[in-house]
Formats: sequence, C-alpha cells, structure tokens
Amino acid sequence: MYNGNENIMICDHPLVKHKITMLRKKTTGTNEFRAIVEEIAMLIGYEALRDLELEDVEVETPIETAMCPVIAGKKQAIIPILRAGLGMVGGLLKLMPTAKVGHIGLYRDEETFEPHEYYCKLPTNIGQRKIFVVDPMLATGGSAIAAVNFIKQRGGKNITFLCVIAAPQGLEKLAEAHPDIKIFAGNLDRELNEKAYICPGLGDAGDRIFGTK
Ligand code: PRP
Ligand code: URA
Repeated sequence: MYNGNENIMICDHPLVKHKITMLRKKTTGTNEFRAIVEEIAMLIGYEALRDLELEDVEVETPIETAMCPVIAGKKQAIIPILRAGLGMVGGLLKLMPTAKVGHIGLYRDEETFEPHEYYCKLPTNIGQRKIFVVDPMLATGGSAIAAVNFIKQRGGKNITFLCVIAAPQGLEKLAEAHPDIKIFAGNLDRELNEKAYICPGLGDAGDRIFGTK
C-alpha cells in the first residue's frame, strides 16, 4: 500500500530488490538485463495474480476422487507498452500461458516528455478480459496514463499496471488519472531528474533491453 491507497502495491520481496539492483548497475549487459527483467516481471506478476478466481474441478488422485481448485476462466490479456514493456511479457506468459497479448506503441517526446502513440492492437473481447499493462518504467506517468486511456476507449475495464521501477510523481499521476486500476511496482525510486529520468533508476529501459542507444 502507498500513501493509504490500497490500489498501489510496492513490492517488498528481497528477491525483487536484489534483482532490481542488478538492473541498476551500468555494467549489466543486454543479455543479463533482459533475463532479469523477465524474472522480475514473473515475481511481481505472482503478487498481482493473487486475486485470480478459482473454481473446483473433479480430480482423481492415486488415492481418491476429490474436488480441487483450478484458475477459473482463461480470459486474460497482457499489454506491453512498446518498446520496453516487451521485456516483461515472457515472465507473465510463464504465469498465464493462455493469455492473449496486445501491443501499444508509445514514445516520449525528448523535449516535452509527452507520449506519442504509433501503434495499438488489442486482443478481441477486451471488455471481458483481465488486463495486465506492463512497462518497466513509470516516470512522469504520461505513457501509462495514455495506454490505459486507449484500452478504456476500446472497452477495457479490469486493468492492472505492472512496472519494475516507479517515480513518486508518475505513481501519483497514474493513480489520480485512473483510480479504478491496480498498480504494482517493484520499487519506488526517489525522484525524476530534469530530463524526466528516474533517479537512481536504471537508465533507458528500452535501450538496455534491446542494446540500442
Ligand atoms: C520509456 C518507458 C516508458 C516511458 C516512461 O519509454 O519504457 O514507456 O519511457 O516514461 P513516462 O512515465 O514519463 O511516460 P520510451 O518513451 O523511452 O520509449 P522506448 O520504450 O521505445 O524506448
Ligand atoms: N524511461 C526510461 O526508460 N527510463 C527512465 O528513467 C524514465 C523513462
């Protein structure tokens, strides 16, 4: 919980903290960075999926027949914000192998920091799906707010946002713009600098995942 808001969860698991420290190191190379982002996505996803509904099915164990719980329904959508959000998809698909994957393409203007859309393709029946929007970095909040706007405009309702690192400013703006969504962050960092980069942060997540500059 963050500032009394029950929809915001900042992860306190030591494994997540340790792995985020590995990401922060500027000597961590692309291969390792990508693998760790995927692992963190899976660990944060584990927390975010805590409220999945269960239903009982009949199972024959070697001992007897029993009613046992399985996940009810299979309607989930994972929606990465391009590019960096792609790095989290594999981790979540390990938890929800039958989820559909949509994509929202956004980039931040380097001077205004405003998000610009260049792509949007969502799974069918989006209104009936439990939606997980993923992006490693929540900085000013502009990209996340725009992505959730697009999804809502297309009928999405049940939305959870997952990030690896959040800045206080972005977290507060996203929660204010979309008070109905749940937000899970691996860590809450100190602040944004004058270029709207998260401090201490990990640099440009997209560049570090894809080895670009
Ligand atoms: C990064 C990051 C988020 C956004 C966060 O993407 O992956 O999408 O910035 O910043 P915000 O909260 O201030 O909007 P970027 O725009 O650099 O695009 P990229 O993933 O293509 O590198
Ligand atoms: N986007 C990034 O990739 N890193 C930041 O620190 C802020 C926005």
